[in-house]
Amino acid sequence: MSALDGFGSVGSGSAPPARRSVRFRGQGLVLAIETSCDDTCASVVDGDGVIRSNVISSQHVHDRFGGVVPEIAARHHLQLMNVVVSEALAEARTSLDEIELVAVTQGPGLIGALLVGLCAAKAIAAGRRVPLAPVDHLQGHVSANFLSESFEPPFLCLIASGGHTLLAEVEEHDRFNVVGRCIDDAAGEAFDKGARMLGLGYPGGPALERLAAEGDPCAFEFPGANAKGRGRRGGRGRAYAQGLDFSFAGVKTALLYRLQQMSEADAAAQAANLAASYQHAIVESLADRAERALERLKVDRLALGGGVAANGALRRRMEQIGARLHVPARELCTDNAAMIGSAARFQRALPYPRYLALDAYATGQRAL
Ligand code: KG4
Ligand code: ZN
Repeated sequence: MSALDGFGSVGSGSAPPARRSVRFRGQGLVLAIETSCDDTCASVVDGDGVIRSNVISSQHVHDRFGGVVPEIAARHHLQLMNVVVSEALAEARTSLDEIELVAVTQGPGLIGALLVGLCAAKAIAAGRRVPLAPVDHLQGHVSANFLSESFEPPFLCLIASGGHTLLAEVEEHDRFNVVGRCIDDAAGEAFDKGARMLGLGYPGGPALERLAAEGDPCAFEFPGANAKGRGRRGGRGRAYAQGLDFSFAGVKTALLYRLQQMSEADAAAQAANLAASYQHAIVESLADRAERALERLKVDRLALGGGVAANGALRRRMEQIGARLHVPARELCTDNAAMIGSAARFQRALPYPRYLALDAYATGQRAL
């Protein structure tokens, strides 16, 4: 049995029957690349999900624009790619000779940024004739839970990042069923925009959390950030649980109006209380939906993923829910390549040269 058993089978001609979950059985290593937004990331993980290296180079050039500039992000990925990959290999004390599989984020994200990572991954894989696994970024966030002390499916996963907020029923390592989603801004975007209104830097989430630590979460009342879901039908004919969608536009507008009613001096004096109350509204909304979903789906295992899951208040609040909780380390919640390598261990890869024609997909280009 080859180390890449289950991976080299997608080629034309003799495709075997589809298998639901194919583990990477290699003793060898996976080199993973992630460039969906403004972090240039490369990692080496082994077949058991042990992280051998996890290099993250954050592009601080976007701070002065108050958000990520896609064109600048793509150019910086180009400049950083070789050095980040070399560093990941060096830290893992390995070389390309020992890499059996290359994994890369295919989407969703910023298209220019994704293309840099995808082209680099194709070139590295093609140079060695090894297979390539194109990984969905959200599957990557879920799969951060399979690294180190793995949390095994089935479980409910709350993914909250800068671009997405969703509740996913994770049935297998390589797939999930969305049961709740955000109908407008994602939770991370709400943190970023709130931080901007409060005059904090980018990325706003960590800055807002730091300020909130000095404030009173009950000082101001902000509306719950939940959508009144009418219930829909899921992709596989499964009924979406009622009322599991999120909406963060209202809480954002409430902060804006509140600030407009305050003098500059008053807003400055109340900044920590505003931050704490605003964070509290977002956290309560996420916890409320997660709690409802656990109850409706009769699941008692909960995992978190995505940048917002690095938030201490959210992590503490989720512990109170009473479900068996798994939260990845903070650096595995925010964007990283180890989670992409982790996901690749459970999915099919494309053999050389099939992946050469792969394209990336931007946010919104593929239905969840
Ligand atoms: O998963 P991620 O790194 O990238 C995306 O896939 O979008 O998530 C980034 C988002 C940003 O909006 C950032 O402000 C937020 O996660 N974030 C946080 C914290 N750390 C990152 N939000 C709240 N508290 C944090 N500590
Ligand atoms: Zn992400």
